[in-house]
This record gives sequence, C-alpha cells and structure tokens, in this order.
Amino acid sequence: MDQAQKLRNLVKVNKDNDNKDIKIYTIASGKGGVGKTNVVVNTAITLQKKGKNVLIIDADLGLANIDVILGVSPKYTLYDVLFKDIDLNDALLRGPKGIKIIPGGSGVLEMTTLSVDKQEELAKEFLKLKDIDTILIDTGAGISKNLLSFVTFSQELIIVTTPEPTSLTDAYSVMKVISKYNLKKDIKIIINRVPNEKMAKSTFNTLKKTAKNFLNINLDNLGYILDDVRVMNSVMKQQPFVLGYPRCLASKCIYSITDKLLNGKKSLKKINSIQEVYNRLIKVFG
Ligand SMILES: Nc1ncnc2c1ncn2[C@@H]1O[C@H](COP(=O)(O)OP(=O)(O)OP(=O)(O)O)[C@@H](O)[C@H]1O
Ligand SMILES: [Mg+2]
Repeated sequence: MDQAQKLRNLVKVNKDNDNKDIKIYTIASGKGGVGKTNVVVNTAITLQKKGKNVLIIDADLGLANIDVILGVSPKYTLYDVLFKDIDLNDALLRGPKGIKIIPGGSGVLEMTTLSVDKQEELAKEFLKLKDIDTILIDTGAGISKNLLSFVTFSQELIIVTTPEPTSLTDAYSVMKVISKYNLKKDIKIIINRVPNEKMAKSTFNTLKKTAKNFLNINLDNLGYILDDVRVMNSVMKQQPFVLGYPRCLASKCIYSITDKLLNGKKSLKKINSIQEVYNRLIKVFG
C-alpha cells in the first residue's frame, strides 16, 4: 500500500467518528517546576467532576511525574501501545473521579524519530478512543521535538509560567519556536504562584503585548493560581489539592480556569480528520 492509500483508509475509519468532538490540550512551560503537573492533575479532576471524560497523557520524563502525584503505578506506557501492540484502552490507568492516565514511558523519547507509520498509528489510536472527550498532555519543561509533536496533535497549547522574569523569558522562548514553525496562532496562558490577582493581570498583559508585537501570536488569559502552601502539602501527601483541600485558594483558582475551558470557544476545530493531523506532523518532521 502506498502512503496516500494508507491515509485514505485512515480517513475512512474516522468517518465513524465524525460527530465526536475531542478537545486535546498540550500543557507546556519554558522553565521547569512552574506547576504544569499540578495544573494538569487538578484541572483534569475538576473537568471530570463536571461531567467530562478526561485522559491525561504523561509525556514528562522528569521527576515530578503524574503517577507520583496521584500515587498510582503504571503497567503499560505509550511505548507499549506503539511498539508492543498493546491497545491504548488497555494501557489506561484509572485515577481519582475516574480520570484516565497514560504514561509516556521511555518511548516518548523516541517520538522524535517515529516513522511516519508510527506517527499515523499514534494519531489513529487517539482518534478511536472511546468515552474520552478531553485529553490533557503534560509535557516536560522546555522546547523539544517531543513537545512540538504533541502540540501538533492538540487544538490548544497552554503555557504555564510564574511571574518571575526567568520563567517568563523561558515561556517566551517556547512561543518563539511555536511561531517559527507556525504551529499555533493562539496560545492560552496560566500564571501560577502569584501573590495576588493584580500581579497576575499585569504579568499577563506585558506578556501579551510582547507576544503580539514580536511574534504575532495572540495570548488568551486562561487564569492564574495563587501561591498556596496547600499545593506543596498535597504533593507531599500524594493527594491532588482539589480533593484534599477543595476550598483552598489554589483550588478556587483551578475552578475558574476549568470554567473558562468549558465555556471557551465552541468553534474549536474538531479533531476528526487524520489528514489534518498528518499535515501538521509533516510540518514538524518533514
Ligand atoms: N500555586 C502554587 N503554590 C505553591 N506552590 C506551588 C504552586 N504550584 C506549584 N507549586 C510547587 O511547585 C512544585 C512543582 O510543581 P509541578 O511538579 O506541578 O511543576 P512542573 O512544572 O510539572 O515541574 P516539571 O517541569 O519538573 O515537570 C510543586 O511540588 C509545589 O511544591
Ligand atoms: Mg511536571
């Protein structure tokens, strides 16, 4: 079968999914340790509580992995799905409130060198997932081909930063690469660990102006998270703060972020065309 024929077949398979509306978000940061994993886990649980069916892809090979924060242990990884014929549905871990998690595993490192066949297979596995309507991809810090490949799978990129200049500069570097490869025109921003709303607003506004002027990228303000000692306490206890401290400052911030996600533009491009995913992949890997 030639490449074009394979693609046509994939498109046919996905005709069945035409009415499925899956939202895929990649969560990234320039600097490490700014709160991505905590944002992903607590937002996922909150979305799930509000009736969404959420899958987390743990694409971070760093130290603060999702399985550690949740206290669950993985059996299979995305690597097994791609190279050992394990079905994506069978590799899913169950987390609090029924969220599902798939660890990237060491195979994620090889995403950069995935053959076109494997890239297609991955796209196809995502598209055929049953019951899942929201996918959050937690990535490692910084820019990698890995990150870019996940961004191509997603309709939305969320960048987490703190108000510190070092974190902002690194966040800007990520945007620069996104702009260079023309991967996204709009990026959502979460400012984490702020002392108050005022600082969150001024930080966002400065970042927005810079991104518009120098990169022609539009930044959406997805919200902020107050600096809250309960976050660290929860990580220590391996219990997400929205469950352990549902009324704490950080939890309230997560609820407002979740509401914004749920009420966001409904016109997001539906991911049901393999061709679209493929076209984007070619841009990065081609
Ligand atoms: N809003 C907050 N208030 C207080 N502490 C926070 C907050 N957000 C994050 N932290 C602290 O920062 C630590 C790192 O958070 P997290 O692991 O979510 O970051 P990360 O961006 O995923 O890191 P990495 O880049 O290593 O993957 C947490 O364990 C917690 O101690
Ligand atoms: Mg992390």
